[in-house]
Amino acid sequence: MGLAMGTASVVGYRRPRPGTQPEHLHPPYLSSVKRAPRQPLVRLPHTLSEVTGPVFGADFVGSNGQDLTHQPSGEALGERIIVSGQVLDEDGRPVAGTLVEVWQANAAGRYRHEIDQHRAPLDPNFVGSGRTLTDTRGGYRFLTIRPGAYPWKNHANAWRPAHIHFSVFGPAFATRLVTQMYFPGDPLLDTDPIFNCTADETARRRLVSFFDWSTTTPDYALGYRFDIVVSGREATPLEAG
Ligand SMILES: [Fe+2]
Repeated sequence: MGLAMGTASVVGYRRPRPGTQPEHLHPPYLSSVKRAPRQPLVRLPHTLSEVTGPVFGADFVGSNGQDLTHQPSGEALGERIIVSGQVLDEDGRPVAGTLVEVWQANAAGRYRHEIDQHRAPLDPNFVGSGRTLTDTRGGYRFLTIRPGAYPWKNHANAWRPAHIHFSVFGPAFATRLVTQMYFPGDPLLDTDPIFNCTADETARRRLVSFFDWSTTTPDYALGYRFDIVVSGREATPLEAG
């Protein structure tokens, strides 16, 4: 949509098709009942500052933010994996130089966070978060540990499928995407209320990474590919709730 602002015309980002993003209210996901707005949303036009920037960038990336497996104290425990992919805009163009952040549980399914009191061991050599910038082709790459599934209190015997949290800015704040990457073949996906908040199956499947022989490294690590589209018709669904 266009918006007249003085003499400039601002072209906003395309809005998602119904069903391709998580419902605000998805009763099987209990937290959504408390968080969901009770009034219809007021749609605001995208203004110039939202479709341009600035956004967080190189200042927020450390020298070794792509490697979550090594600490000065030693190597993290668990199955090493390489997660890589491309960040694309709504027209399929690579988004270069954009900030990609990840955070995740360790191999035993526990976060390094005081709220997480799951009875599973912490790994002193695994912090569980990383940051990088996409390259000129929109590519990113993390070396990490496959996270474990963990229990939560949503319903009886509830377990989250293994997942890695992602934040991707894209070209502007209006395109910031916070989502979760899942693993192919995970038996917990079908019953996970957060994964299933997105009604459209094709959109939901965009949240599941692909096993990738081309990045699998002999004698070292399995590769998974996860491409992210920050807005438009093919957009990766946001994290629910
Ligand atoms: Fe999580």
